[in-house]
Amino acid sequence: MRFRPDLLRAMIVLFNLALVIFGFTFFYLLFGETLLKSYHNRPVPMEQPGYRSGGSGKTADAEEEIVNGIHVQSGLIYAEGFDIVRGNCTACHSAKLVTQNRATREGWTDMIRWMQARQGLWDLGENEPVILDYLATNYAPEDIGRRATIDVEEIEWYLLELEEE
Ligand code: HEC
Repeated sequence: MRFRPDLLRAMIVLFNLALVIFGFTFFYLLFGETLLKSYHNRPVPMEQPGYRSGGSGKTADAEEEIVNGIHVQSGLIYAEGFDIVRGNCTACHSAKLVTQNRATREGWTDMIRWMQARQGLWDLGENEPVILDYLATNYAPEDIGRRATIDVEEIEWYLLELEEE
């Protein structure tokens, strides 16, 4: 094969070009993200949409976040009736009082009656069945962690001997 300097020169140019492209790509992969981030992360003034003016600086969306069916900010299960429960049941106390309790529908009704009688809870009107449905469904009593239910068949019953007259 005859030596061709023009071909060699072309190859060297191509090689250099490839080296430059490779270098840029490598640099971008290493530092591109950091550079872009620092560009995008400039402080955003409070008045911008997505921020509550004068708020804690958290986005409004963060307060509505739902993770695994739980409304993160209140800790309440996000299910039917959630909005009404949140609106009525977190006005005086933390939603924790709700989430830490479990009861039947009757139990929840009793708690509501007690708060209405003693704590100034208002008449819930047509919201009451919605609230009770929500509570009885999502915060029903559960047996987990308690002793197993007694097996009636296993118990040796005996008659209590009453003293004879
Ligand atoms: C008008 C104020 C007010 C509203 C509204 C209110 N509560 Fe209460 N609730 C109270 C007070 C006061 C207590 C007692 C707090 C304490 O013991 O620290 C209480 C206690 C509770 C308790 C704990 C009861 C116990 O036996 O320990 C639960 C559960 C509860 N509330 C659920 C609810 C639910 C469900 C709603 C919505 C229907 C609601 N609350 C709305 C005032 C209110």
